[in-house]
Amino acid sequence: MSNIPSDKAVLVTCGLPYANGKAHVGHLRTYIPADIFVRSLKKNGQEATFVCGSDAHGTPIAVNAEEMGITPGELMQKYHVHFNEVFKKMGVNFDAYGTTDDAENQNRTLEIVNKLVDKGYVYPKTIEIAYCPECDRFLPDRYVEGTCPNCGEKARGDECDQGCGKHLEPGELQQPLCTICSGPAEYRQQEHFFFKLSEFKDFLLEHLENLGGTINARNYALGWVKQELTDWCITRNLEWGIKFPGHDDLVVYVWVDAPIGYMSFTEQWAAATGGDWEKFWKGDNPIVHFIGGDIIYHHCIFWPAMLKGADYSQPSAVVASGMVKIEDKTFSKSRGYVVWVEEDYLDHGFHSDLLRYYLASYTSHTKEVNFSWKIFQDKINTELVGVFGNFLYRNLLFTFKNFGEIPEGDIDPEIMDKISSTIDDVSKATAEYEFKKAVDAAMALASYGNSYFQANEPWKLIKEDKEACGKVIKNCIQLAKALILLFEPVIPGSMEDAWQQIGMETDVHTVTYSEATVPVESGKALKKPGILFVKVEDDKIAEMDEISSGRIQKAIAKEAGIEEEVKMEFKDEIEYDDFAKLDIRVGKILSAEKIKKSKKLLRLQVDIGDVEPRQIVAGLAEYYQPEEMVGKTVNVLVNLKPVKLCGVESQGMLLAADNDEDVSLLSTDKDMGPGAIIG
Ligand code: 2FM
Ligand code: ZN
Repeated sequence: MSNIPSDKAVLVTCGLPYANGKAHVGHLRTYIPADIFVRSLKKNGQEATFVCGSDAHGTPIAVNAEEMGITPGELMQKYHVHFNEVFKKMGVNFDAYGTTDDAENQNRTLEIVNKLVDKGYVYPKTIEIAYCPECDRFLPDRYVEGTCPNCGEKARGDECDQGCGKHLEPGELQQPLCTICSGPAEYRQQEHFFFKLSEFKDFLLEHLENLGGTINARNYALGWVKQELTDWCITRNLEWGIKFPGHDDLVVYVWVDAPIGYMSFTEQWAAATGGDWEKFWKGDNPIVHFIGGDIIYHHCIFWPAMLKGADYSQPSAVVASGMVKIEDKTFSKSRGYVVWVEEDYLDHGFHSDLLRYYLASYTSHTKEVNFSWKIFQDKINTELVGVFGNFLYRNLLFTFKNFGEIPEGDIDPEIMDKISSTIDDVSKATAEYEFKKAVDAAMALASYGNSYFQANEPWKLIKEDKEACGKVIKNCIQLAKALILLFEPVIPGSMEDAWQQIGMETDVHTVTYSEATVPVESGKALKKPGILFVKVEDDKIAEMDEISSGRIQKAIAKEAGIEEEVKMEFKDEIEYDDFAKLDIRVGKILSAEKIKKSKKLLRLQVDIGDVEPRQIVAGLAEYYQPEEMVGKTVNVLVNLKPVKLCGVESQGMLLAADNDEDVSLLSTDKDMGPGAIIG
């Protein structure tokens, strides 16, 4: 349902992707409809600000960074850049795209947490926290797995991700296991801080009754609020994150500082443009959150309560998308059911608009989308190429060949009515977050255009009555103009080209729907049109299917422990100067010890000659016992920028050979003594 007044500037946000891996089609399921929504608001003449950013903190980042042997900050930066680029390439145009680690978000989070503390909404409590005796550390969120106490499915520490979807509090998970060493975890007592969520029950019931957006979000949240509301633990034992005020050993839970990102990214937008962020967060300009269906609980329960508690405005609407299946199978990276946006789609030469069209037109926003290459081909070829592309191309080519310009003539009232009623249908459907309905209504107008062209037989008329033919053609160009505006939110890149093809010089992205019924200008010279949408050929789909099935087979083989033939691939050629930048020296290991918090890392002291020994953190714990390393001669890259791994500074890197099964340190053939140059 729509509760967004049409005369107010709107803030639209999108769920923040965790910056811990590459963008896949599942991500786009939320971002593309949100971008379409923003573009449609603008087409209706409404002001809209669109913000998002990378979710930088929490265990999703910390666990992946630990597995890769890099710092959480490095991991987050890498994928932040990646997401930012992918969104641009896919035409998802945010007005601000920050990270939750940005200073604005650190400051706003502290301000909000302090406010909640001051107002008495936060209290300390000693609770049971999962603890791994083997790794000797507490296990927040994704560091622990076990059984959901609500539905009995396998769940993560803070979320029943494979069952009922409920948020889980520390200590709730049954049969906890450490995700780092896979050993059994135990519960130990520790003091943490809680937000008095239970005090917000009445507020939330009322808030949810009035909440706009999709009905799935409201109903799911209402179900939980009516049943029970337990206070919410908002601190975690982690080094990576925003420190909880006054407690350096704790950070705030990622679900506290992540949604605050919506606010700080609005502040970033305001600082860059002179805009006013407070009209949304302290005033009554509407806020619309687009999210995946798996994070409704956080956006409809925790977030509005936190905002209310800290005296900020609450969202007007939460729009929750259905999930994505790949070739009719549940999305799963580990089982190979994934389509990466860059390497599986854009890098194969597919235009971003085709995938935008697919995702918007496949089904209703709250339902599940199945991504299949075959369906992709059918939809593009029959709908975009066969209906809309066909209408534009045959019409514009005919005009160019026979008139060279937009011919004289009035537009039939019936055509104008058809355009107006389609704009109404599209706007109504978009306001209800029914993107498929909106796309279908626009496509129906393209079908109407094809029927009109066909019924009036301009190819015959041109020979008998050129003036009458011109009138028919002018009507067709008017329809084309309206169609381009109606499709711009969905396929913005292609519509930029189409707009030029009908001789328009304005910016198609800023022109509003009201222009669709302004008669096209007779006498405007037209250039030879190009084909906007090209058929997706069978062999291209066969190639894509092969890539998908190869990945699935590989995943099955990995699961079954079957070796596969590995193709040797070499890195790009380099100049000698590139190599000469590496300063590699002979070293001797003086001491080695395990790093408590990690299964993989060792801390080494290495003599590299006439200087202080170097401290090096190496991912060798699975291949070497610390005691057998002492005294070994090694090759050390000594001019690598220092990094912190698991909180310990590493001042270089040991060179080693890796064949996927074992790792072996490199040494020298003769005894050269520490400090000798290798090169
Ligand atoms: O579930 C996720 O992918 C989270 N990174 C979403 C955060 S949205 C928000 F609250 F910031
Ligand atoms: Zn569950």
